[in-house]
Amino acid sequence: MSSKLFSPLQIKEITFKNRIAISPMCQYSATDGFATDWHLVHLGSRAIGGAALLLQEATAVSPEGRISPGDLGIWSDAQLPKYRAINQFIESQNAIAGIQLAHAGRKASVSVPWQGNKKLDPLQGGWQTVAPSAIAYHDTEPVPLALDAQGIQKVLLDFKLAAQRALKAGFKVLEIHAAHGYLLHQFLSPLSNLRTDQYGGSFANRIRLTLQVVAAVQSEWPINLPLFVRISATDWAEGGWNLEESVALSKILKQEGVDLIDVSTGALVPYQKIPVAPNYQVPFAERIKKESNILTGAVGLITQAAQAEKIVASAQADLVLFGRESLRDPNLALTLAQDLQAEIPWPKQYQRAQP
Ligand code: FNR
Repeated sequence: MSSKLFSPLQIKEITFKNRIAISPMCQYSATDGFATDWHLVHLGSRAIGGAALLLQEATAVSPEGRISPGDLGIWSDAQLPKYRAINQFIESQNAIAGIQLAHAGRKASVSVPWQGNKKLDPLQGGWQTVAPSAIAYHDTEPVPLALDAQGIQKVLLDFKLAAQRALKAGFKVLEIHAAHGYLLHQFLSPLSNLRTDQYGGSFANRIRLTLQVVAAVQSEWPINLPLFVRISATDWAEGGWNLEESVALSKILKQEGVDLIDVSTGALVPYQKIPVAPNYQVPFAERIKKESNILTGAVGLITQAAQAEKIVASAQADLVLFGRESLRDPNLALTLAQDLQAEIPWPKQYQRAQP
């Protein structure tokens, strides 16, 4: 059978050998923002496993932009050699290395999940968080500092320099993280952005920082390499950011030269109500693809070959991102190919195991 999931996708200069991407997933295993052998083995084994695109976890553009002290960072040239080594390995497997650039905003400064995801104060290795407005994610947490004009300029410069370094480190895809309640999403949503300056209030004002980050990144990122933006297409909360605004933003991002919207949802407020089920975010990717006329990625509880095949074949999305299922099975793409009877090359070292 000829599989759409295993058909190539060309974006600008880059050919993805299939439609399978490993979703960015924090490993909380960095030291001072530096990648370790964990990242090499984690990403490398999934490149061996046949995915076309390995999107490196949320990588902070500044120390204060990390979610936890274990997050990856790209605020220093000293952090680049390990990324280069990882990316060379990924390319040796005929896969594409991508990076997600992130700033956690008010959700920064928490302990790693296996230490409880607890807010860390500066005396415990934490740091002062920043946000559009002085509103905490949980009312039990210390309030973030509302960014002033100078603080916003620093964020823009940090994203610009991070893009410059990402290119130097050999990444071929850059994704801006504007989802999951982190800094850019905090500006997008009226629930977290109560500013009265040019960055708050109207839709045009709330999207301003995201557009400026896109422009800052584009000043360094080559026009012939893919640029993605991950958004949360809805806050799943009354009065929050919604699908109509996501469609409108995606249209503008398309005009600005963004290639693909990676469509997730939620994580802005703790009181969100998400109807979690297989494919629950796919309709958002489909609406954005159709109404904004831009490539989309679908993600969220996509675990089965036939399910992923149908998403691509019915043009609901162009790329399928796998998160947790790829943690359960590093060779996920090889498994999916087998399920769909699609013939793809196995790594020569593994050929004796090929069914
Ligand atoms: C995530 N997710 C995530 N998303 C993101 O945009 N940047 C990130 O760094 C992370 N980190 C992360 C870590 C871990 C351990 C998990 C499980 C998830 C979300 C992830 O990319 C994906 O969108 C969701 O997991 C939903 O997809 P699945 O897991 O249902 O396929």
